[in-house]
Amino acid sequence: MNNFKFLLIALFVTSFSGFSQTPTDFLSKDFHKNRRDALRVKMPTNSVAVVFANPVRNRANDVDYVFHQDPNFYYLTGYREPNGVLVLFSDEQTNEKGVSYNEILYVQKRDKRAEQWNGKRLGVEGAKNELGFKVALNADEFVNSNINFKNFDRIFIEEFHDDYRNSARDKAEVYDLVVAFKEKAAYNPKNFLSPMKKQIYELIKTTSIENSANVAQIIGRALAYDPSLKSDEDLMKFKEATDDSLKKELQQKIALKLDAKTNIDITFLSANLATLREVKTTEELKLLTKAIRISAIGQVEVMKAMKPHMSEMELQGIHEFVYKKYGAAYEGYPSIVGAGNNGCILHYIENSKTKLDNELVLMDLGAEYRGYTADVTRTIPANGKFSKEQKAIYEIVYNAQEAGIAAYIIGESMAKPNVLSKKIVDEGLFKLGIIKSVDEKHPYYPHGTSHHIGLDVHDPGNYDNFEENMVVTMEPGIYIPEGSTCDKKWWGIGIRIEDDILVTKNGPVNLSSEAPRTVKEIEKMMAKKSVLDDFVLPNLDK
Ligand code: GLY
Ligand code: MN
Ligand code: MN
Repeated sequence: MNNFKFLLIALFVTSFSGFSQTPTDFLSKDFHKNRRDALRVKMPTNSVAVVFANPVRNRANDVDYVFHQDPNFYYLTGYREPNGVLVLFSDEQTNEKGVSYNEILYVQKRDKRAEQWNGKRLGVEGAKNELGFKVALNADEFVNSNINFKNFDRIFIEEFHDDYRNSARDKAEVYDLVVAFKEKAAYNPKNFLSPMKKQIYELIKTTSIENSANVAQIIGRALAYDPSLKSDEDLMKFKEATDDSLKKELQQKIALKLDAKTNIDITFLSANLATLREVKTTEELKLLTKAIRISAIGQVEVMKAMKPHMSEMELQGIHEFVYKKYGAAYEGYPSIVGAGNNGCILHYIENSKTKLDNELVLMDLGAEYRGYTADVTRTIPANGKFSKEQKAIYEIVYNAQEAGIAAYIIGESMAKPNVLSKKIVDEGLFKLGIIKSVDEKHPYYPHGTSHHIGLDVHDPGNYDNFEENMVVTMEPGIYIPEGSTCDKKWWGIGIRIEDDILVTKNGPVNLSSEAPRTVKEIEKMMAKKSVLDDFVLPNLDK
């Protein structure tokens, strides 16, 4: 065959096969299998893990919110559709036909009509070929299955929130799968404790009565997170008790509850998946790095394009356009673009201010690329030049961030960057006369600095010491809302700088460094031309 003919055939094949036209760089089936194996080795013998897909959420009438898979379920399976369940056994099982297996993925049944309306389903064959499951079955077979859950010593599940919608469109929706599971496994929430309750009970059991004042304080803090604890009478009585003999009596009662009998465990999966997910594999790092670089490049394009007449929403659109240009289909969390005082609202997502004027603009956005989400914040002056006051606060935050990043060292406590940054912010604000004493409890800096990112923007982890291949944010901030008890000239300044740091043997690597960070670099970037300078649309109000 001559070269020309070959070229023609090659062109024909590639243009009609469609292979090159849909993304192929998702996590590999080997990755997911490897993660299931890593979880399985942590499971005791004769145990089973049951993990459900996320439910579909209704937005309005016959329109649902865009489906997003439960990250733990995705991590273990790679399945991106709803109405699935993974059953993972610690030991080999054998079916009636003598076939052995140690995991089953139940998936949505192929359905011509449903697929015409809502897109292609992977089905059982796809789950086998594309996701690499030896045993894949339709979800309705889970509802009717005879897996004898009661025979396992331990059943590991994630805590149910009972917020599955039963649309009755299909008899094998995740709602039905959960109901079927609960029945098969004789699930009774009264038989076990929530992870938080379990921790508190253990603390009560192991703390001497002389030190019980500390425990009462911890219960108080836990209540702020989980007000449902209020319904636990013994716990509330313990918190308020002043009499030692009453405390002792309650301590014994609570210790007994810790030993309640059930084979269902709602803490094992979340704890062990946190341990797996907090350290990223090479494959994950590739996708996460891409998500981060896309987000940093979004910041660069906005720096060039920003003008005081623009709106917050318009800036959001520029960031998100860059994401989509790179094929990042979603944002990892609702985009935050806040000018001036709006920047002082930590998770401001209205983005509704129509004119930036000469304010500082806080932009906290992250592209989600193939499931992995970045989390990058830059705060820049709409007119391209920091004022004296803006610069003074900015440099404190910058120095706090630099000091924190330097502590992203293998073996260091993950709490250290936050502590270092708080000290610099306290000293800086005191020097400017914004706080009266360095011992004030950080009124203008109400959050911490460091969380894992990955499949979740706040990825699970143990938050112990830094380990190689963790990716953790470093995000100090200072927020001085209007009406604060300091000189008015500081009001409306809200600054956060957030970068995504990879922990390596050679020290911290800033994966979002493509977005300028110093005052000088930012001003230089903002002085550049943007392709959007000439992008003018018709005025609809004239
Ligand atoms: N974007 C949410 C956060 O910074 O944690
Ligand atoms: Mn963050
Ligand atoms: Mn953020």
